Amino acid sequence: MVNVTKLGLSLLLSTAVSFAHADNIILKEKTNLMLNGKTIGFSPILTPVNVLKTSKDKTSIKIKGYRLENYPQMVVRDMARGELYAEFEDEDIATKSFKVIKKYEDDYGEIWHEVEGSFSIASKQIAKEPSKLYLNAKKTYERTCSMCHHLPASTAYTVNQWPQQIESMMEQAPLDAPTKSLIVKYLQQNAMDAK
Ligand code: HEC
Repeated sequence: MVNVTKLGLSLLLSTAVSFAHADNIILKEKTNLMLNGKTIGFSPILTPVNVLKTSKDKTSIKIKGYRLENYPQMVVRDMARGELYAEFEDEDIATKSFKVIKKYEDDYGEIWHEVEGSFSIASKQIAKEPSKLYLNAKKTYERTCSMCHHLPASTAYTVNQWPQQIESMMEQAPLDAPTKSLIVKYLQQNAMDAK
């Protein structure tokens, strides 16, 4: 009897784990974040978020990340890796939209907040085929950045270095905003310190 109960429990646990995985999704494109029916900010393409509840039109999501106390408008992956997860125009709204879980001080004496917030997005912004989206990001990067020189390895720079590297290419290789954002996110998610 005891064994049967144990088996039942472990089955239950493994089901719970697979559900938790299914809840992690990525955004298909730049996505408006809504709160009480108002757009208050956005998350870039390829940003990972948790789904709380979904319907045909609207999905409520949770975003977890870190922000500087002095600059709450930007929420990034963590204190060492500034991959953008969410950005807001209004400092006040940004501050109020997230719950502070914990505060940290970094090596430079800057105060960081570990935060999480829930927002509503259009359900069509969720990538239905994430592997296709990643493959497209990889191809876009390879095509765009190998025209004048060898394709740099994504691991040649850190998450925080890549945006500057792309910025320095803009004069020679101007990119439209969506392509630039896609390449920056792709490189940051595959950077030297991404894993
Ligand atoms: C139109 C030609 C051209 C394209 C397209 C181009 N680059 Fe470059 N890239 C250059 C040139 C020229 C240099 C060397 C001179 C310099 O650093 O500005 C360079 C240098 C670099 C370097 C080395 C910088 C260093 O400090 O040594 C990196 C990294 C780089 N490119 C990344 C990229 C990425 C990422 C893309 C795609 C978004 C890209 N490049 C697209 C012309 C280009």
